[in-house]
Amino acid sequence: MKRSSLAPLVAALFLAGGSGAAEAQDRAIERKVEALLKRMTLEEKVGQLHQLSGRQMTGPGSEKFADKLADIRAGRVGSMLNVKGVSETREIQALALQSRLKIPLLFGLDVIHGYKTVFPVPLGEAASWDMEAIRQSAAIAAKEAAASGIHWTFAPMVDIGRDPRWGRVMEGAGEDTYLGSQIAIARVKGFQGEKLGALDRVMATAKHFAAYGAAIAGRDYNAADMSEHQLHEVYLPPFKAAADAGVATFMNSFNTLNGVPATASAYLQRDLLKGKWNYKGFVVSDWASIKELVEHGHAADLAQAAAQAIDAGSDMDMEGYAYTRHLADQVRSGKVKQSRLDESVRRVLVKKFEMGLFDDPYRYSDAAREQAALNDPEHARIARDVARKTLVLLKNEQNALPLSKGLKSLAVIGPLAEAKRDLEGGWIVQSDTSRVVSVVEGLRGALPDTRLLVAQGCDVACASSAGFADAVAAAKQAEAVLLVVGESWDMSGEAKSRADIGLPGQQAQLFDALAATGKPVIVVMMAGRPLVFNNVADKAAAILYAWFPGAQGGNAVADVLVGDYNPSGKLPMSFPRSVGQIPISYQQYRTGRPVVNEANIVYRSAYIDSPNTPRYAFGHGLSYTSFAYGDLAISKPSMKRGDKVTVSFTLANTGARAGEEVVQLYIRDKVASLVRPVMELKGFRKLKLEPGERRTLSFQVDRDTLSFHNAKLQWVAEPGEFEIMVGSASDAIRLRGALTLSD
Ligand code: NOJ
Repeated sequence: MKRSSLAPLVAALFLAGGSGAAEAQDRAIERKVEALLKRMTLEEKVGQLHQLSGRQMTGPGSEKFADKLADIRAGRVGSMLNVKGVSETREIQALALQSRLKIPLLFGLDVIHGYKTVFPVPLGEAASWDMEAIRQSAAIAAKEAAASGIHWTFAPMVDIGRDPRWGRVMEGAGEDTYLGSQIAIARVKGFQGEKLGALDRVMATAKHFAAYGAAIAGRDYNAADMSEHQLHEVYLPPFKAAADAGVATFMNSFNTLNGVPATASAYLQRDLLKGKWNYKGFVVSDWASIKELVEHGHAADLAQAAAQAIDAGSDMDMEGYAYTRHLADQVRSGKVKQSRLDESVRRVLVKKFEMGLFDDPYRYSDAAREQAALNDPEHARIARDVARKTLVLLKNEQNALPLSKGLKSLAVIGPLAEAKRDLEGGWIVQSDTSRVVSVVEGLRGALPDTRLLVAQGCDVACASSAGFADAVAAAKQAEAVLLVVGESWDMSGEAKSRADIGLPGQQAQLFDALAATGKPVIVVMMAGRPLVFNNVADKAAAILYAWFPGAQGGNAVADVLVGDYNPSGKLPMSFPRSVGQIPISYQQYRTGRPVVNEANIVYRSAYIDSPNTPRYAFGHGLSYTSFAYGDLAISKPSMKRGDKVTVSFTLANTGARAGEEVVQLYIRDKVASLVRPVMELKGFRKLKLEPGERRTLSFQVDRDTLSFHNAKLQWVAEPGEFEIMVGSASDAIRLRGALTLSD
């Protein structure tokens, strides 16, 4: 068939809309990519796989980057990271358009929790259990970034984290595979929208593939070593969920997995991702992770590293210089197959077409749109709303919270009481503390008639107790005492592993000094990870865990402290009692010697010096109101594999305030061919009830709900009995029932 005779058919497919139109567009892009590939030299192809960092490329000190600029002009660079803003992206894109084939650059950046408007850190957002809020936060970040010329964010990080020593738990969704998968989907949808190419969206990246969160001893970049079963059950599902949600790219990871660096793992990238999962996007390496194959002792030199990485399925080399220096030679010498190179280039070009960059390479860099997006007051309002949802009320004795609006005086003490930079957290595009509301500022707004007695006590490092006396004096004078403690923004995040995850320095002693006044002490804690703080947990009147709540954090915290917002966050990670309990998860496997009675732990799977239970459990979080669960009904006691069963129950707000509850569905597979965890999250829903309101809720249970990876890694539901549990936390199961799966 001649090309022209296809035209009416293609047009008809477009008009038909839906998947027909999408398929026709895919075909059209494929044809364009093939035509372009035919025109490319070997060097130009390799160039598409080279990603360069733009730090200091323009402005003072940029002279030494002249050769990099020359590379861009020569078509030897396919993508840049760390270039941002309309003028910079335009300036650099213009260089790429001087190249022979005028292939536009892709601009990528770590837009992790906001671009200009700083939202709570991802672990905090996970604590909201609110998928719409998470989606919206990503969508606003995308809108701001896209208007500034960014095409692509290196987010979401979907690594499961069960070790709070690992500083990057801050960037993830916590310990749970099911919750993590739902959040991965929400973030991908938020960043990308329904279809790549919209001007207010960016491409997303599922990272770090894979098992990066399982770094031994919680030390960043360390090896991961686990059974394939564990990998498939716990670590891979959020990646699969992101792939199914259409995530444009994957990023591989720094770590080795069972002895093979993930960057050189054909099993992960070629067999699983591009093979079994049929993933069509491209894989970018992590920063210099191809080069690090040499440091790992897996490749003898950079040339071998390049060959290993491309063979394994790493398409783009981020700042590793392995591809740009060696790939062309290796293809010429036959060490790397031409088809391997072509496949990677194809994947990258497809995304450039899908983003519309061949139609208009500058379409995302728009000064008027940037101006409007970065100054939209609605974004701050939404950031405040999202931040409120992320706060977790861990403890509230004798209704110490909310504070009365009639308070005459309030002592606001602690290293983070007036902090601004710390509230933004790590991984922000550019700190702008003029946009940050501190806790003290938030409280001034929320309690206009209350005298605030502010005393720092000590800085975050809290090496000295010299300021404690002033803090105690303020506490003694005030009607109520609030202490704001925790980590500084740079204590969590990449390369921020901690062996001791207690409150830094003498912060716990500052708390003791205040508690010694005999006044109830209300604590707000900020951190990028679960901390260990038993002393505070024992003695504080109330504890509100605020993570790093973002630019609107002070307002959000104040909203909760005074009861303008009823706290609704729930922990996405277990809070251990001690570092000795780590790794820790509610989803522990059953043992032959479980603790059935805390009073008798002899020859039981237990510690002789600590309970097994965490200090605060996965799913825990209090409200200013109370909820009653009742009337559990399972639509039938026994189901066949193809059936669906409805688990319904009633939830009532039995308190005096409107409030949101996160109802959680867990199951336990009682007998299976592989020993199953004591419980697994399989569903959740967040909903708001007015005082006295009662609602009937339901979850669907089907074959998928009851399935797991068996010893052959098949996804199976085995016949037998299952326990069905509904509750408000993993340690607060309110309703239990049984369900049998028959053949
Ligand atoms: C290294 C980090 O591991 C990764 O998450 C990030 O996207 C890149 N650096 C680029 O900044």
